[in-house]
Amino acid sequence: MKALCWHGKGDMRCESVPDPRIEDPRDAIIKVTACAICGSDLHIYDGVIPSMERGDVLGHETMGEVVEVGSGNTKLKVGDRVVVPFTIACGECFFCRRGFFSGCERSNPAAEKAAKLWGHSPAGLFGYSHLLGGYPGGQAEYLRVPYADVGPIKVDGGLTDEQVLFLSDIFPTGYMAAEFCNLKGGETVAIWGCGPVGQFAIRSAILLGADRVIAIDTVPERLAMARAAGAETLDFMQEDVYDRIQEMTAGRGADACIDAVGTEPHTTASSDSIVDRLKVATFMGTDRPHVLRQAIHCCRNFGTVSIVGVYGGFLDKIPMGSAINRGLTFRMAQTPVQHYLPKLLGLIENGDIDPSFVVTDKAPLAEGPALYKKFRDKRDGCIKVVLKP
Ligand SMILES: NC(=O)c1ccc[n+]([C@@H]2O[C@H](COP(=O)([O-])OP(=O)(O)OC[C@H]3O[C@@H](n4cnc5c(N)ncnc54)[C@H](O)[C@@H]3O)[C@@H](O)[C@H]2O)c1
Ligand SMILES: [Zn+2]
Ligand SMILES: [Zn+2]
Repeated sequence: MKALCWHGKGDMRCESVPDPRIEDPRDAIIKVTACAICGSDLHIYDGVIPSMERGDVLGHETMGEVVEVGSGNTKLKVGDRVVVPFTIACGECFFCRRGFFSGCERSNPAAEKAAKLWGHSPAGLFGYSHLLGGYPGGQAEYLRVPYADVGPIKVDGGLTDEQVLFLSDIFPTGYMAAEFCNLKGGETVAIWGCGPVGQFAIRSAILLGADRVIAIDTVPERLAMARAAGAETLDFMQEDVYDRIQEMTAGRGADACIDAVGTEPHTTASSDSIVDRLKVATFMGTDRPHVLRQAIHCCRNFGTVSIVGVYGGFLDKIPMGSAINRGLTFRMAQTPVQHYLPKLLGLIENGDIDPSFVVTDKAPLAEGPALYKKFRDKRDGCIKVVLKP
Protein backbone atom coordinates (compact mmCIF):
# COMPACT_ATOMS: atom_id res chain seq x y z
CA MET A 1 0.00 0.00 0.00
CA LYS A 2 0.98 3.66 -0.26
CA ALA A 3 1.71 5.66 2.91
CA LEU A 4 3.33 8.92 3.98
CA CYS A 5 6.68 8.09 5.51
CA TRP A 6 9.04 10.29 7.51
CA HIS A 7 12.66 10.34 6.37
CA GLY A 8 14.07 13.12 8.53
CA LYS A 9 13.46 16.79 9.20
CA GLY A 10 11.29 18.27 6.43
CA ASP A 11 11.42 15.03 4.41
CA MET A 12 8.09 13.25 3.93
CA ARG A 13 7.67 10.73 1.12
CA CYS A 14 4.67 8.92 -0.29
CA GLU A 15 5.98 5.39 -0.81
CA SER A 16 5.06 1.71 -0.83
CA VAL A 17 5.09 -0.11 2.50
CA PRO A 18 3.81 -3.59 3.46
CA ASP A 19 0.03 -3.86 3.96
CA PRO A 20 -0.94 -4.05 7.64
CA ARG A 21 -2.20 -7.38 8.96
CA ILE A 22 -4.29 -8.49 11.93
CA GLU A 23 -1.78 -9.13 14.74
CA ASP A 24 -4.13 -9.55 17.69
CA PRO A 25 -7.69 -10.94 17.87
CA ARG A 26 -9.05 -7.53 18.92
CA ASP A 27 -7.52 -5.72 15.90
CA ALA A 28 -9.31 -4.40 12.84
CA ILE A 29 -7.96 -3.24 9.49
CA ILE A 30 -9.44 -0.03 8.10
CA LYS A 31 -9.41 1.02 4.45
CA VAL A 32 -8.74 4.73 4.88
CA THR A 33 -11.20 7.05 3.15
CA ALA A 34 -9.87 10.28 4.71
CA CYS A 35 -6.99 11.30 6.92
CA ALA A 36 -5.58 14.65 7.99
CA ILE A 37 -2.32 16.36 8.86
CA CYS A 38 -2.25 17.65 12.45
CA GLY A 39 -0.19 20.44 14.02
CA SER A 40 1.32 17.66 16.13
CA ASP A 41 2.66 16.04 12.93
CA LEU A 42 4.49 19.31 12.28
CA HIS A 43 6.58 18.79 15.43
CA ILE A 44 7.76 15.51 13.85
CA TYR A 45 8.19 17.14 10.44
CA ASP A 46 10.31 19.86 12.06
CA GLY A 47 12.47 17.23 13.78
CA VAL A 48 11.65 18.16 17.38
CA ILE A 49 10.14 14.79 18.41
CA PRO A 50 12.75 12.24 19.51
CA SER A 51 12.87 8.51 18.75
CA MET A 52 11.60 8.67 15.18
CA GLU A 53 13.01 6.23 12.64
CA ARG A 54 13.38 6.64 8.90
CA GLY A 55 10.39 5.19 7.10
CA ASP A 56 7.94 5.60 10.00
CA VAL A 57 4.38 6.05 8.72
CA LEU A 58 2.78 9.20 10.20
CA GLY A 59 -0.84 10.16 10.78
CA HIS A 60 -3.25 9.98 13.69
CA GLU A 61 -6.43 11.55 12.30
CA THR A 62 -7.97 8.76 10.28
CA MET A 63 -11.31 7.29 9.28
CA GLY A 64 -12.47 4.66 6.87
CA GLU A 65 -14.21 1.40 6.24
CA VAL A 66 -13.53 -1.79 8.19
CA VAL A 67 -12.21 -4.43 5.79
CA GLU A 68 -11.00 -7.09 8.23
CA VAL A 69 -11.78 -7.89 11.86
CA GLY A 70 -9.83 -10.06 14.31
CA SER A 71 -11.50 -13.18 15.71
CA GLY A 72 -11.84 -11.64 19.18
CA ASN A 73 -13.48 -8.41 18.10
CA THR A 74 -17.24 -8.51 18.59
CA LYS A 75 -17.88 -4.79 18.19
CA LEU A 76 -16.95 -4.18 14.56
CA LYS A 77 -17.89 -5.91 11.35
CA VAL A 78 -16.63 -5.65 7.81
CA GLY A 79 -18.24 -2.66 6.09
CA ASP A 80 -18.59 -0.49 9.21
CA ARG A 81 -17.65 3.17 8.69
CA VAL A 82 -15.53 4.36 11.61
CA VAL A 83 -13.46 7.26 12.91
CA VAL A 84 -10.32 6.21 14.81
CA PRO A 85 -9.14 8.14 17.92
CA PHE A 86 -5.44 9.05 17.91
CA THR A 87 -4.99 7.62 21.40
CA ILE A 88 -4.75 3.82 21.55
CA ALA A 89 -6.51 2.42 24.62
CA CYS A 90 -7.28 -1.07 25.93
CA GLY A 91 -10.58 -0.12 27.59
CA GLU A 92 -9.91 -2.30 30.65
CA CYS A 93 -6.95 -0.97 32.65
CA PHE A 94 -7.04 1.32 35.70
CA PHE A 95 -6.98 4.48 33.54
CA CYS A 96 -9.31 3.34 30.76
CA ARG A 97 -11.95 2.32 33.32
CA ARG A 98 -11.83 5.87 34.67
CA GLY A 99 -12.11 7.48 31.23
CA PHE A 100 -8.44 8.57 31.10
CA PHE A 101 -7.87 6.73 27.81
CA SER A 102 -4.74 8.69 26.90
CA GLY A 103 -3.22 7.33 30.11
CA CYS A 104 -3.86 3.68 29.14
CA GLU A 105 -1.21 1.60 30.85
CA ARG A 106 -1.27 -1.25 28.34
CA SER A 107 -1.12 0.31 24.89
CA ASN A 108 2.45 1.61 24.85
CA PRO A 109 4.93 -1.21 24.25
CA ALA A 110 7.72 1.33 24.88
CA ALA A 111 6.31 2.18 28.32
CA GLU A 112 9.61 1.61 30.11
CA LYS A 113 11.44 4.09 27.87
CA ALA A 114 8.66 6.67 28.24
CA ALA A 115 8.62 6.25 32.03
CA LYS A 116 12.35 7.00 32.18
CA LEU A 117 11.67 10.38 30.57
CA TRP A 118 8.32 11.27 32.14
CA GLY A 119 8.10 9.24 35.36
CA HIS A 120 5.23 7.15 33.99
CA SER A 121 4.15 6.23 30.47
CA PRO A 122 1.06 7.58 28.72
CA ALA A 123 -0.92 5.59 26.11
CA GLY A 124 0.53 4.62 22.77
CA LEU A 125 -0.39 6.86 19.83
CA PHE A 126 -0.67 6.20 16.11
CA GLY A 127 2.29 7.42 14.07
CA TYR A 128 3.92 9.31 16.89
CA SER A 129 7.47 8.01 17.50
CA HIS A 130 8.93 4.92 19.09
CA LEU A 131 8.62 6.51 22.52
CA LEU A 132 4.84 6.20 22.11
CA GLY A 133 4.73 2.71 20.72
CA GLY A 134 6.08 2.93 17.18
CA TYR A 135 2.59 2.26 15.76
CA PRO A 136 2.32 2.91 12.01
CA GLY A 137 0.01 5.88 11.42
CA GLY A 138 -3.05 6.44 9.31
CA GLN A 139 -1.76 8.67 6.50
CA ALA A 140 -1.93 5.55 4.41
CA GLU A 141 -4.29 3.44 2.34
CA TYR A 142 -4.85 0.99 5.21
CA LEU A 143 -4.45 1.14 8.98
CA ARG A 144 -4.19 -1.58 11.61
CA VAL A 145 -6.20 -0.50 14.65
CA PRO A 146 -5.20 -2.24 17.91
CA TYR A 147 -7.93 -2.60 20.57
CA ALA A 148 -10.37 -1.85 17.77
CA ASP A 149 -13.26 -2.93 19.98
CA VAL A 150 -12.64 0.18 22.14
CA GLY A 151 -11.54 3.20 20.12
CA PRO A 152 -13.25 3.44 16.73
CA ILE A 153 -16.67 5.08 16.69
CA LYS A 154 -19.23 4.10 14.05
CA VAL A 155 -20.71 6.93 12.02
CA ASP A 156 -23.67 6.77 9.72
CA GLY A 157 -23.64 7.56 6.06
CA GLY A 158 -25.57 10.82 6.31
CA LEU A 159 -22.51 12.79 7.36
CA THR A 160 -19.53 13.51 5.09
CA ASP A 161 -15.99 12.42 5.94
CA GLU A 162 -15.02 16.06 6.55
CA GLN A 163 -17.84 16.44 9.08
CA VAL A 164 -16.73 13.50 11.25
CA LEU A 165 -12.99 13.00 10.60
CA PHE A 166 -11.91 15.52 13.24
CA LEU A 167 -13.55 13.47 15.99
CA SER A 168 -10.24 11.58 15.80
CA ASP A 169 -8.34 14.43 17.47
CA ILE A 170 -8.73 18.18 16.96
CA PHE A 171 -12.43 18.54 17.78
CA PRO A 172 -12.17 16.63 21.10
CA THR A 173 -8.89 18.45 21.79
CA GLY A 174 -10.36 21.91 21.26
CA TYR A 175 -13.46 20.91 23.22
CA MET A 176 -11.38 19.55 26.10
CA ALA A 177 -9.34 22.77 26.14
CA ALA A 178 -12.54 24.76 26.64
CA GLU A 179 -14.04 22.25 29.09
CA PHE A 180 -10.89 22.56 31.24
CA CYS A 181 -11.82 26.26 31.70
CA ASN A 182 -14.79 25.18 33.82
CA LEU A 183 -17.05 27.82 32.28
CA LYS A 184 -20.21 28.77 34.11
CA GLY A 185 -21.34 31.39 31.56
CA GLY A 186 -20.19 34.95 31.04
CA GLU A 187 -16.42 34.41 31.09
CA THR A 188 -13.68 35.89 28.91
CA VAL A 189 -11.44 33.19 27.45
CA ALA A 190 -8.15 34.07 25.73
CA ILE A 191 -6.91 31.50 23.22
CA TRP A 192 -3.37 31.46 21.82
CA GLY A 193 -3.18 29.86 18.37
CA CYS A 194 -5.87 29.95 15.69
CA GLY A 195 -4.68 26.77 14.03
CA PRO A 196 -7.18 23.91 13.69
CA VAL A 197 -7.03 23.13 17.43
CA GLY A 198 -7.49 26.78 18.38
CA GLN A 199 -10.46 27.04 15.98
CA PHE A 200 -12.23 24.17 17.75
CA ALA A 201 -11.32 25.63 21.15
CA ILE A 202 -12.89 28.96 20.13
CA ARG A 203 -16.15 27.36 18.98
CA SER A 204 -16.26 25.03 21.99
CA ALA A 205 -15.69 27.89 24.46
CA ILE A 206 -18.64 29.71 22.90
CA LEU A 207 -20.79 26.54 22.97
CA LEU A 208 -19.90 26.11 26.66
CA GLY A 209 -21.01 29.62 27.56
CA ALA A 210 -18.02 31.97 27.25
CA ASP A 211 -19.18 35.54 26.85
CA ARG A 212 -16.05 36.72 25.04
CA VAL A 213 -13.28 34.86 23.27
CA ILE A 214 -10.05 36.69 22.53
CA ALA A 215 -8.17 34.74 19.86
CA ILE A 216 -4.47 35.38 19.25
CA ASP A 217 -2.44 34.57 16.13
CA THR A 218 -0.77 36.45 13.29
CA VAL A 219 -1.97 34.62 10.17
CA PRO A 220 -4.73 36.74 8.59
CA GLU A 221 -6.94 33.87 7.30
CA ARG A 222 -6.76 32.14 10.67
CA LEU A 223 -7.71 35.34 12.50
CA ALA A 224 -10.56 35.84 10.03
CA MET A 225 -11.82 32.28 10.68
CA ALA A 226 -11.71 33.03 14.42
CA ARG A 227 -13.75 36.22 13.93
CA ALA A 228 -16.28 34.30 11.85
CA ALA A 229 -16.91 32.17 14.96
CA GLY A 230 -17.51 35.26 17.07
CA ALA A 231 -14.06 35.84 18.58
CA GLU A 232 -12.30 39.17 18.96
CA THR A 233 -8.77 38.84 17.60
CA LEU A 234 -5.26 40.04 18.43
CA ASP A 235 -2.24 39.89 16.13
CA PHE A 236 0.76 39.11 18.33
CA MET A 237 3.20 40.50 15.74
CA GLN A 238 1.42 43.88 15.70
CA GLU A 239 0.17 44.37 19.26
CA ASP A 240 1.41 43.73 22.77
CA VAL A 241 -0.77 40.79 23.82
CA TYR A 242 -0.49 41.38 27.57
CA ASP A 243 -1.30 45.10 27.28
CA ARG A 244 -4.25 44.48 24.99
CA ILE A 245 -5.74 41.75 27.20
CA GLN A 246 -5.33 44.06 30.20
CA GLU A 247 -7.23 46.78 28.33
CA MET A 248 -9.96 44.39 27.23
CA THR A 249 -10.53 42.99 30.74
CA ALA A 250 -10.47 46.20 32.80
CA GLY A 251 -6.97 45.34 34.04
CA ARG A 252 -8.01 42.05 35.62
CA GLY A 253 -6.85 39.47 33.07
CA ALA A 254 -8.77 36.76 31.24
CA ASP A 255 -10.83 34.28 33.28
CA ALA A 256 -9.18 31.43 31.41
CA CYS A 257 -6.25 31.19 29.01
CA ILE A 258 -5.82 28.36 26.51
CA ASP A 259 -2.42 27.51 25.00
CA ALA A 260 -3.20 25.95 21.63
CA VAL A 261 0.29 26.62 20.25
CA GLY A 262 2.80 24.49 22.16
CA THR A 263 6.49 24.06 21.77
CA GLU A 264 7.06 25.74 18.40
CA PRO A 265 5.71 29.30 18.71
CA HIS A 266 6.48 32.14 16.36
CA THR A 267 7.74 35.03 18.39
CA THR A 268 8.71 38.63 18.27
CA ALA A 269 12.23 39.25 19.55
CA SER A 270 11.26 39.00 23.22
CA SER A 271 14.16 38.16 25.52
CA ASP A 272 12.58 34.94 26.81
CA SER A 273 12.02 33.61 23.31
CA ILE A 274 15.58 34.41 22.24
CA VAL A 275 16.94 32.50 25.24
CA ASP A 276 14.58 29.59 24.42
CA ARG A 277 15.87 29.44 20.84
CA LEU A 278 19.51 29.49 21.96
CA LYS A 279 18.91 26.77 24.53
CA VAL A 280 17.09 24.45 22.14
CA ALA A 281 19.70 25.04 19.40
CA THR A 282 22.53 24.12 21.78
CA PHE A 283 20.71 21.13 23.36
CA MET A 284 20.54 22.97 26.69
CA GLY A 285 16.75 22.93 26.59
CA THR A 286 13.93 20.87 25.13
CA ASP A 287 11.04 23.30 24.57
CA ARG A 288 10.18 26.94 23.82
CA PRO A 289 7.32 27.74 26.22
CA HIS A 290 6.91 31.44 25.32
CA VAL A 291 3.14 31.16 24.88
CA LEU A 292 2.66 29.33 28.16
CA ARG A 293 4.53 32.08 30.04
CA GLN A 294 2.37 34.72 28.37
CA ALA A 295 -0.84 32.79 29.09
CA ILE A 296 0.06 32.61 32.79
CA HIS A 297 0.73 36.34 32.96
CA CYS A 298 -2.51 37.19 31.16
CA CYS A 299 -4.70 34.99 33.38
CA ARG A 300 -6.66 36.63 36.17
CA ASN A 301 -6.18 35.70 39.82
CA PHE A 302 -7.71 32.28 40.50
CA GLY A 303 -8.23 31.74 36.77
CA THR A 304 -7.43 28.63 34.72
CA VAL A 305 -4.59 27.97 32.31
CA SER A 306 -5.58 25.18 29.91
CA ILE A 307 -2.73 23.65 27.92
CA VAL A 308 -3.34 21.55 24.82
CA GLY A 309 -0.37 22.74 22.75
CA VAL A 310 2.17 19.94 22.97
CA TYR A 311 5.39 20.16 25.00
CA GLY A 312 7.92 17.35 25.14
CA GLY A 313 10.40 17.73 27.93
CA PHE A 314 11.57 20.13 30.59
CA LEU A 315 10.27 23.69 30.42
CA ASP A 316 12.42 26.57 31.65
CA LYS A 317 11.44 29.83 33.31
CA ILE A 318 7.78 29.02 33.87
CA PRO A 319 6.50 31.73 36.23
CA MET A 320 5.34 29.41 39.00
CA GLY A 321 5.66 32.31 41.45
CA SER A 322 2.91 34.11 39.55
CA ALA A 323 0.79 30.97 39.45
CA ILE A 324 1.01 30.02 43.11
CA ASN A 325 0.69 33.52 44.51
CA ARG A 326 -2.38 34.18 42.36
CA GLY A 327 -4.06 30.81 42.74
CA LEU A 328 -4.06 29.66 39.11
CA THR A 329 -5.38 26.24 38.11
CA PHE A 330 -3.48 24.32 35.43
CA ARG A 331 -5.20 21.71 33.30
CA MET A 332 -3.53 19.83 30.44
CA ALA A 333 -3.60 16.53 28.58
CA GLN A 334 -3.14 14.55 25.47
CA THR A 335 -6.84 14.19 24.82
CA PRO A 336 -8.59 11.05 26.06
CA VAL A 337 -10.49 11.12 22.77
CA GLN A 338 -12.71 8.10 23.44
CA HIS A 339 -14.21 9.87 26.46
CA TYR A 340 -15.56 12.72 24.30
CA LEU A 341 -16.78 10.82 21.26
CA PRO A 342 -20.45 10.10 22.06
CA LYS A 343 -21.09 13.68 23.17
CA LEU A 344 -19.28 15.35 20.26
CA LEU A 345 -20.79 13.06 17.62
CA GLY A 346 -24.13 14.12 19.11
CA LEU A 347 -23.26 17.81 18.65
CA ILE A 348 -22.44 17.14 14.98
CA GLU A 349 -25.60 15.09 14.40
CA ASN A 350 -27.73 17.82 16.02
CA GLY A 351 -26.16 20.46 13.82
CA ASP A 352 -24.68 22.37 16.77
CA ILE A 353 -21.34 22.37 14.95
CA ASP A 354 -20.17 21.36 11.48
CA PRO A 355 -16.43 20.58 11.80
CA SER A 356 -15.89 20.73 8.03
CA PHE A 357 -15.61 24.54 8.31
CA VAL A 358 -11.88 24.18 9.02
CA VAL A 359 -10.92 22.29 5.82
CA THR A 360 -9.04 24.41 3.29
CA ASP A 361 -7.13 21.77 1.31
CA LYS A 362 -8.27 18.39 0.01
CA ALA A 363 -5.95 16.20 -2.09
CA PRO A 364 -4.85 12.64 -2.86
CA LEU A 365 -2.28 10.99 -0.56
CA ALA A 366 0.51 11.45 -3.12
CA GLU A 367 0.32 15.21 -2.60
CA GLY A 368 0.95 14.72 1.13
CA PRO A 369 4.62 15.74 1.14
CA ALA A 370 3.90 19.06 -0.60
CA LEU A 371 0.94 19.69 1.70
CA TYR A 372 3.03 19.06 4.81
CA LYS A 373 5.19 21.97 3.68
CA LYS A 374 2.26 24.19 2.74
CA PHE A 375 0.55 23.56 6.12
CA ARG A 376 3.79 24.10 8.07
CA ASP A 377 4.49 27.37 6.22
CA LYS A 378 0.82 28.47 6.50
CA ARG A 379 0.94 29.42 2.82
CA ASP A 380 -1.97 30.29 0.52
CA GLY A 381 -4.62 30.19 3.20
CA CYS A 382 -3.88 26.61 4.24
CA ILE A 383 -5.49 25.86 7.60
CA LYS A 384 -6.40 22.15 7.53
CA VAL A 385 -5.38 19.48 5.06
CA VAL A 386 -7.51 16.39 4.37
CA LEU A 387 -5.98 13.61 2.28
CA LYS A 388 -8.09 11.10 0.37
CA PRO A 389 -6.07 7.90 -0.21
N1 LIG B 1 -3.24 17.85 23.56
C1 LIG B 1 -3.58 17.17 22.50
O1 LIG B 1 -4.12 16.08 22.60
C2 LIG B 1 -3.32 17.74 21.13
C3 LIG B 1 -4.01 17.27 20.03
C4 LIG B 1 -3.81 17.87 18.79
C5 LIG B 1 -2.89 18.90 18.67
N2 LIG B 1 -2.21 19.31 19.77
C6 LIG B 1 -1.24 20.42 19.70
O2 LIG B 1 -1.96 21.63 19.58
C7 LIG B 1 -1.11 22.61 18.97
C8 LIG B 1 -1.86 23.28 17.82
O3 LIG B 1 -2.18 22.35 16.81
P1 LIG B 1 -2.73 22.86 15.41
O4 LIG B 1 -3.09 21.67 14.61
O5 LIG B 1 -3.75 23.90 15.60
O6 LIG B 1 -1.35 23.46 14.82
P2 LIG B 1 -0.93 24.73 13.93
O7 LIG B 1 0.55 24.69 13.92
O8 LIG B 1 -1.65 24.76 12.65
O9 LIG B 1 -1.43 25.97 14.79
C9 LIG B 1 -0.65 26.70 15.67
C10 LIG B 1 -1.05 28.17 15.52
O10 LIG B 1 -0.38 28.93 16.52
C11 LIG B 1 -0.04 30.17 15.97
N3 LIG B 1 1.02 30.78 16.79
C12 LIG B 1 2.35 30.59 16.69
N4 LIG B 1 3.00 31.34 17.60
C13 LIG B 1 2.05 32.01 18.29
C14 LIG B 1 2.11 32.97 19.34
N5 LIG B 1 3.29 33.36 19.84
N6 LIG B 1 0.94 33.45 19.82
C15 LIG B 1 -0.25 33.07 19.31
N7 LIG B 1 -0.36 32.18 18.28
C16 LIG B 1 0.79 31.67 17.79
C17 LIG B 1 0.40 29.82 14.56
O11 LIG B 1 0.40 30.95 13.70
C18 LIG B 1 -0.64 28.77 14.18
O12 LIG B 1 -1.76 29.35 13.55
C19 LIG B 1 0.14 21.86 18.54
O13 LIG B 1 1.15 22.02 19.52
C20 LIG B 1 -0.30 20.42 18.54
O14 LIG B 1 0.77 19.52 18.75
C21 LIG B 1 -2.42 18.75 20.99
ZN1 LIG C 1 -3.02 15.57 16.53
ZN1 LIG D 1 -6.10 0.86 29.09
